[in-house]
Amino acid sequence: MSGQRGSPNRQGPSLRECLWCLANGLPLRYELDEAWLSRVLFHVQGCRDRRFRTVPSAGATYPLEVYVSSLGRIFPLKTGLYKYVSCSGNLVQSSVNADFEGFLFSVLPGRTVTYYGERGYMYVRNEVGHALQNLFLSLVSHGLWGSVRLVELEFGPGKPQYIAARVDVARVDSYCRGFSLEKGVLFDTAVVLRRSIRNYSREAISSESLLDVLKWSMGEIVAGSRPYLKFGEEYGVNGSVAVFNVRGLDKGIYEFDAKDMELELVRTGDFREKLWRASLMQESVRRAAAVIVLFGDGLLGEVEAGAVGQNIYLNAVDEGLGTVAIGAFHEEDFLEVFGEQRPLYVFPLGKPAE
Ligand SMILES: Cc1cc2nc3c(=O)[nH]c(=O)nc-3n(C[C@H](O)[C@H](O)[C@H](O)COP(=O)(O)O)c2cc1C
Repeated sequence: MSGQRGSPNRQGPSLRECLWCLANGLPLRYELDEAWLSRVLFHVQGCRDRRFRTVPSAGATYPLEVYVSSLGRIFPLKTGLYKYVSCSGNLVQSSVNADFEGFLFSVLPGRTVTYYGERGYMYVRNEVGHALQNLFLSLVSHGLWGSVRLVELEFGPGKPQYIAARVDVARVDSYCRGFSLEKGVLFDTAVVLRRSIRNYSREAISSESLLDVLKWSMGEIVAGSRPYLKFGEEYGVNGSVAVFNVRGLDKGIYEFDAKDMELELVRTGDFREKLWRASLMQESVRRAAAVIVLFGDGLLGEVEAGAVGQNIYLNAVDEGLGTVAIGAFHEEDFLEVFGEQRPLYVFPLGKPAE
């Protein structure tokens, strides 16, 4: 397989159908076409503009490498282990042996830690979450399901490369129905259009848009089930929002209730300046109409925050909004404003500037 990029020609399912079906634990029915595997790989780690990829990466350092392990049962490949070369779209065989049908996410944390020090280890775990989320949405869109095993998440200076995750891929007997109305942007399109946007207009965003981004990123859109995988026994990530300029909402701090999918006002006030300083004076935070903050604990929480973050990026595309993942901020200053669990990840949101 070489040179095939994610096929722009497929009339695939919408982003929100994929999210809905992922929350339901079932894929959409899909007849596997010739380009399906290269499309899935493109969704997970494909190249954009020769330099960037379909998933974000701290400082574009790209510590992830994706391998396909094929037994030739589902994948159109002979038995073996193959490395995906992102910008050429090629699969290069690295072994003739394989013992499962699926994907391996290998990481080289040194690529990121060189620039960001110890905090870089968390960024790598976030990025595993981003890539897993795109993989599962892509599998769902291709009529396939998978089970994930997070293998090694504790990184350190003593070892250059780790297997962070293994995903076994399977066919299923029953499928998700999807929906016929209000489809919104196609999943394939959202992946291609996703990029980090740091400059926003002064326009307010609507409370409906903000709530839709939260709901479709981390709400229990199916009773007890959010639109991403559970990495532990329970979901571990909570979300709050600092509202600066949202039609229909007072300025202040709101908690997102994932179960009822509502915003609950915690306290009113203008926290723009404070959060801008807390995020190392990054202009994206000061220019935003609202800032979503994800909270959680532990290594699994960091992976989960990445999965939610990927949903925020994709849903922002659906709403015509822009966002950027922010990992560089002072945790204590965010804690002071939000008074929650450990702040993990920050997403300013706004109408992209012209
Ligand atoms: C874990 C993580 C942390 C990041 N932290 C920041 C940040 O603090 N500030 C920022 O402007 N961008 C940040 N980014 C966004 C990256 O700079 C961006 O993904 C990268 O430049 C590639 O561009 P793209 O997202 O448009 O593909 C972060 C991304 C990730 C995945």
